[in-house]
Amino acid sequence: MVQEQLESKGVTVTNDQARAVTHEYSDKIWMLHKYVGYGLCFLLLCRIVLEATQPGEEKIKTKIKNALTFQAKTDSEKEDRKIYLLAKRGYLLFYLVFLVMGLSGLVLAFEDVKFLDPIHKIMGDVHEIAQYGVYVYILAHLIGVVREEIGKYPGITSSMVHGKKK
Ligand code: HEM
Repeated sequence: MVQEQLESKGVTVTNDQARAVTHEYSDKIWMLHKYVGYGLCFLLLCRIVLEATQPGEEKIKTKIKNALTFQAKTDSEKEDRKIYLLAKRGYLLFYLVFLVMGLSGLVLAFEDVKFLDPIHKIMGDVHEIAQYGVYVYILAHLIGVVREEIGKYPGITSSMVHGKKK
């Protein structure tokens, strides 16, 4: 692309010269990814601290336990319980995948730290594979939200914004 663009302006550059330009752009993009990554790690840390410090009944652990011991009587209650558990367990899985993503990303980001050298390569592979878990979760989450929004729970998207419970 660089060669084509320059050629249309009457300048001819070699493959290596064009590659040097594209490399610079790709470095900048990865730099941006790194800083966004630090932000995401900070948000994940906040979520972990929140989980540890909020009152017992607000903890995800308690919510899952309560749902498991809840005696569903009607079919509708059973269905609700199933979906509730699926969503909460899905969050747990997402936090786990994101923890792996964050930790492996931090190892890649701190490439100058000598003692991380032996695990650098494997963490690169882990980071590359775990990304698909994030994509699958995002897709499943969106499908679930849209399904419930137009189905049994209209307004769940707006409750993400105002935070009120019905
Ligand atoms: C949704 C979360 C994330 C996704 C989907 C993602 C995706 C990716 C992908 C696809 C690569 C290229 C892997 C390769 O081809 O070798 C990469 C590299 C990298 N990621 Fe992430 N990442 C995420 C989170 C993070 C986080 C939280 C950090 C922490 C700082 C991070 C830091 C890095 C670094 C430093 C690299 C290497 C960049 C380079 O080659 O210069 N990433 N990431």
